[in-house]
This record gives sequence, structure tokens and C-alpha cells, in this order.
Amino acid sequence: MFGLRTKITLTYALLIAIALILLLVFIDQTVSGYFIREKETSLLKQANILADTAAPRMDNLDSIRPTIDRFAKEIPGRILISNQEGYILLDSFRVDDFEGQQLKNKEILGALTGIPTTGTHYLADEGWVIYVAVPILRGDNIIGSVLISTAINDTYTSIQTITEQVLYFSLVILVLVALTSLILAAKISKPIVKLTKATERMAQGELDQQVQVKGKDEIARLSDSFNTMAIKLNQLDETRRAFVADASHELRSPLAAMKALAESLLHNDNTTKEQYREFIQDINTEIDRLTKLVNDLLLLARLDKGKEALNKELTDLDQLLEDLIRKMTPLADKRKITLTYNTDGPILTNIDPDQIYRAVWNLLDNSIKYTPKGGKTSLTLKKQPDNITISVADNGVGIKEKERIFERFSRADKARSRQTGGFGLGLSIVDRITKLHDGTITIESKENQGTTIQLEIPKNS
Ligand SMILES: Nc1ncnc2c1ncn2[C@@H]1O[C@H](COP(=O)(O)OP(=O)(O)OP(=O)(O)O)[C@@H](O)[C@H]1O
Ligand SMILES: [Mg+2]
Repeated sequence: MFGLRTKITLTYALLIAIALILLLVFIDQTVSGYFIREKETSLLKQANILADTAAPRMDNLDSIRPTIDRFAKEIPGRILISNQEGYILLDSFRVDDFEGQQLKNKEILGALTGIPTTGTHYLADEGWVIYVAVPILRGDNIIGSVLISTAINDTYTSIQTITEQVLYFSLVILVLVALTSLILAAKISKPIVKLTKATERMAQGELDQQVQVKGKDEIARLSDSFNTMAIKLNQLDETRRAFVADASHELRSPLAAMKALAESLLHNDNTTKEQYREFIQDINTEIDRLTKLVNDLLLLARLDKGKEALNKELTDLDQLLEDLIRKMTPLADKRKITLTYNTDGPILTNIDPDQIYRAVWNLLDNSIKYTPKGGKTSLTLKKQPDNITISVADNGVGIKEKERIFERFSRADKARSRQTGGFGLGLSIVDRITKLHDGTITIESKENQGTTIQLEIPKNS
């Protein structure tokens, strides 16, 4: 409902407002209480002095009238002295004095029970006043009380002034905080708005989005991740496009070859039986090529699903590779290539046997394919402490450009591979299978000297 900006600003303003209100209440309660207690204490002291002065002279109070008057002027306030029944014996106030009257306010009553008593009252004609009454003692007997009353309007006014000042101050702070948080909120929400817009554009298919955000805070980090993600997505999209283009291209050439063969058969009336056989043979070869291509593509699509594509089981890798060598030997023999197998003996591991078989098959197939007649190819299986290595080495033509060799449809030598008939999918399949087994693949190759490709698979993969 509210934007992030409004939310942050409102939250800050609300917090500060609450803090300021609490401060005002605190000042009102504590400071005013403190002032009044201070006043009460000093008045109690004076009242006690007067009580001591009056105690021996209760029968002849006129003798201390000048002292009382001086005190009353100094305080300034009104001083009343009563007997033990509360009848006023002396009043420092000359006009309308209470002398002779019995007073029953709570302060005098309190003092007459022996307890110094104080209280604040609001009087219509004088405003706020404070009453302080103490007992007059002779020995242990209470023989009267001294009451001092004084106006404390001044105190109240100064407290009010302080409160007002704090209030103004608070309002200024509130406005400042609101402004600052507004600016801060704008600063915070700006990159978020940018990110949101970029994400929306991305959702609409414009993948080349980049957000520029300064600094190193969480939002800057989020933007960095967003940018990386956008680049990756963009790359992925390009790879996918290239893949579809490459796949269609590869599909086209066998189809074109078959079409040419079929048409020449159709349009040529004098084709001999041998020619027929030959052409059909060629078409059959192209169909095999196409089938291999489609099967490889389907396999890659399956391997792209991740580990669920694997069916792992406890397998003796040595046995598996031995079978493979047996199957590959006729092909090697046909191409006059010596195929050897070096092994550390049986190794039981948890792998997908079909896929590992396929991977090593691809490596051997390459070695046999890309090694001239009379060459050598060896397969080696080794146990290491933590992992198992399978390497295929040959002394063939070598790979000139190794960088992108594991990418789909990449061939080191386009012209040559067309001849040998590869699609450039074999090594990408090997790479995928190795990675799904948490393994790594390394390649060492020198042009015209040979190639060694090694798979390293963790033992407990
Ligand atoms: N042992 C090797 N010696 C020399 N070149 C190799 C070797 N292995 C692979 N290559 C080069 O790497 C390229 C990619 O190999 P990859 O197995 O991926 O594809 P391919 O053999 O061309 O086709 P496919 O395996 O899909 O039938 C090959 O085209 C070849 O140029
Ligand atoms: Mg290959």
C-alpha cells in the first residue's frame, strides 16, 4: 500500500515522536517533582527553626513577632503558629489574619499528630502554593505547629517555560528527522526501484540488463548479483540460440546428402544395380550419422537434467573398461592402431556404468579416429588415495585449440572432422558425465605429438 520510502519516513518520524513525548512527560513529572521537593525541604528546615524558636515562648509569642516577620519576608511567605488544638496564635499576615481561628487543613492536623506534613494547593486568588507544617515540641509533648505557606507560581512558570522550550526543540528535531529520513529513504529506495525496473524488463525478455549502483552495502551487493545473473542468463540464452542453430546446421548436411543421392537415383534412368546399391549404401551411412546425432542430442538433453539422469550402482570399473577394450579392439585393428590397457586391478565404485562406459568409449573413439595409421592408444586405470583416474593417451594429430573443445559442436579442425564425420558432441558428453560424477577432466595435447585426456572421479562419488 505504502511505498518503501513512505514506510521508512513514517517509521522514523513515529519513533522520534514517541521518544519526544516520553521526554516531555518525563520532564513534567520528574523535573517539576524535583523542584517542589527541593522547595519543601528548605521550607521544612525553616519551619523547624521557627518551631524551636517558638517552643519556649508559646505564652509570649509577641516577643518573637519581629523574627517571624523577618522570616516571612525572606521566604517570602506566610507563617502561622497554632496551639495544640489548631487555634492560630500568631499570623505573619497582618490583613485578614487568622489569629484566634481554628484551622483544620491536613498539614496542620498532620503536624499536630507529630508528623511534618507538606502539600501543594491551587488557590483562586494566589495560584499554586505549597504548605509545610511541623510540630512544636516541648520535651515529647506536641504543644503546637508552625505552618509556612508560600507561592510557587514561579517554579511552575519556569517548569512550563522549560517544557515549552523542549516542545519547540522537539518539533524542530521532528521536522529535521522527517526530512533526513525522507532523503535517506529516497536513497535506499532508488536502487531498489532501478532493480525492480530492470527485473521487469528482463521478465519481458530483454535479457541484457545492467544496474549501476554505487557503494558496498547490501543493495549494492544485490545489484552486483543481479548484474552477474543477467550476464549469465544472457550467455545461456546465446548458447541456447547457438545450439539450436548448430544442431539445425548439422542436421541439414546429412539430409542434403541423402536428398542429392535420392534425386540422382530418381532422375537417372540408366542406373545399374551396382550403382543403386552404392547409393543406397551412402544413404544408409547418412541415416546412421543422423541417428547418432539425434541420439547424442537426446543424451545431452537428458544429462542436462542433472544428477537424476544417472543410475549409479556399485561397479567394478576394471571389468567395465576391459569389456570396452574388447569391443573397441576390432575398430582399432581396422585402423592399424595398437590399443593397450593398463590397470591397477579391480576397483569397486559407485558410478553409472552405462554413462562411464559411454564417456570412455568417446575418448577411445576420438583417439582411434584422430591418430594416423600405425599409431598407439592406451587406456590407463589408476587408484589414487581419494580418487580414481582414467586416462586415454594417443600419439595422434593433437588438438590445436583446446579452449572450447568441451563445448557442444566444437571441433578443433572443422575441415578434418567433416571428413572423419564427427559432430563435435563427444567431448561435451564426456565433460557432462564426468561433472555429474563430481569429477574433473584435464586435457594435455601437442599438435602432431598426441593427446592425453584424463578423468578424475572421487572414490566415494
Ligand atoms: N584424441 C584426439 N586427438 C586429436 N584431436 C582430438 C582428439 N579428441 C578430440 N579431438 C578434437 O576435438 C574435437 C571434438 O571432439 P568430440 O569428440 O567432441 O567431437 P567429434 O569427435 O568431432 O564428434 P563426435 O564425437 O560428436 O562424433 C574433434 O573434432 C577433434 O578435432
Ligand atoms: Mg568424438
